[in-house]
Amino acid sequence: MPISRRSLLKSFGVASGAALLADFPLDVLATARPILEEAYPFSPYQPKKTITAITLGAGSRGNVYGGYALQFPNALDIVGVAEPNPVRNERYSKKHQIDNKNRFNTWEDVFKVPKFADAVIITTPDRLHYGPCMAALKAGYDVLLEKPISPSQKECEDILALSKKTGRIVAVCHVLRYAPYFVKLRKVIQSGAIGELVSIQHLEPIGHVHMSHSYVRGNWHNRHETTPIILAKSCHDLDILRWMVDKPCTKVVAMGGIKWFKKENAPAGSTARCSDGCAVEGSCPYSALKIYHRNRSWTHVFDLPEDREKQGEAILEYLKTTNYGRCVYRMENNQEDHYICNLEFEGGVTANFSMEAFTSYEGRRTRVMGSMGDIVGDMNTFTVTDFRTGKSEEFDHSKIEDVENYKNSGHGGGDWLLVNDWIAAISERNPALLTSTIDASIESHIMGFKAEKSRTSGKVERL
Ligand SMILES: NC(=O)c1ccc[n+]([C@@H]2O[C@H](COP(=O)([O-])OP(=O)(O)OC[C@H]3O[C@@H](n4cnc5c(N)ncnc54)[C@H](O)[C@@H]3O)[C@@H](O)[C@H]2O)c1
Repeated sequence: MPISRRSLLKSFGVASGAALLADFPLDVLATARPILEEAYPFSPYQPKKTITAITLGAGSRGNVYGGYALQFPNALDIVGVAEPNPVRNERYSKKHQIDNKNRFNTWEDVFKVPKFADAVIITTPDRLHYGPCMAALKAGYDVLLEKPISPSQKECEDILALSKKTGRIVAVCHVLRYAPYFVKLRKVIQSGAIGELVSIQHLEPIGHVHMSHSYVRGNWHNRHETTPIILAKSCHDLDILRWMVDKPCTKVVAMGGIKWFKKENAPAGSTARCSDGCAVEGSCPYSALKIYHRNRSWTHVFDLPEDREKQGEAILEYLKTTNYGRCVYRMENNQEDHYICNLEFEGGVTANFSMEAFTSYEGRRTRVMGSMGDIVGDMNTFTVTDFRTGKSEEFDHSKIEDVENYKNSGHGGGDWLLVNDWIAAISERNPALLTSTIDASIESHIMGFKAEKSRTSGKVERL
């Protein structure tokens, strides 16, 4: 019978003791099998009383979390919204049957009236997280806070301090911590099935079109107006590394830059907008006409008419009037398209992380190296190989049964699984039911701030 390292340590009266691992005979070390075979334990949480929430920012993410309320109306009820875009405000209010008196133009207005819900969901743009979060905590709301917590370390620390002072629950949307794939991966590492953790190699392949959409043309193209890409895109990755290693990060060194999306790389014959008669439009991988109009991909950023017949025309109009129709080589973008970080953690575990724009695929790739085995994964499946037996075993997320559509919620199911745990934490007044409390999440943001410092100074940063 396989025996877990934790129960083995327990039976020796040791709560945790990686240092002792080497003293155990190799044949009684844990194997990954029990963890891989364990059914994924998702069952929607039913609070005694439905949790009520106000969404601040009814854009893409506001709708992801709002979707949970539509699927589980007895668990979560969206009773208010603040959204300056009239189309979004109207559509969101209709979807959630929000009373007119609870519809607001901007987040500030919500806090001008007495508290009327249990919680707020903060899905406003990056630079509008701090203001609403501080106001919500002062007014006595619990909070679901989109990442990044804030683009400023001082503001992150202020939010942490106020959440402690007020005793309110703040869940940070580090959604990967809730994705079954990463939950299992971490459990396997912590079980000792691959022996002592030595190092991790982690890749975030953004995908070339995704990069052009979000970080060259889109919402996050300007680091000064939003957040440097290491936090905007990759606070998830730093956070997952910190969470898997389960020890504080002590050193960071980072490098990166903008190689491709620059004026000097604009092809001859290209024009300011793809619809201006660009000579290379037909062969350019970044053609806005191809991405948004012909392929109808990434169109969630447009508020399209419900009548599908009219959508094509509306997309063309957006391409003439917004950044989404502009040439990728002629933007005012300043986010790196390749970025590497080397990290060292307490006890000497090392990790290297690459964020890469120029890939044909998406889905984080992770390789974990242990003294007695290794793990190779692509965010859907991972394979654990045990050096002692030479045998490999696989975890495959696509084989896990879906429950109430959670898999479609995004980030490998993490989006809705986070909301589920957040509701449980609020209902039971127990932040320990969350893995991404503000306390647990802030450190990986600091790793990101330090990485930026290292990238610009060229020096190793200590934490
Ligand atoms: N957890 C994740 O994996 C993840 C993924 C994508 C985005 N995000 C983060 O979520 C946040 C929202 O991103 P998004 O993609 O939904 O953007 P979005 O632009 O689709 O939505 C933001 C909404 O906020 C609204 N808004 C602007 N000013 C406001 C104000 N004063 N009061 C109320 N609402 C206001 C905008 O009109 C917009 O509808 C960002 O901080 C982003 O970085 C997180």
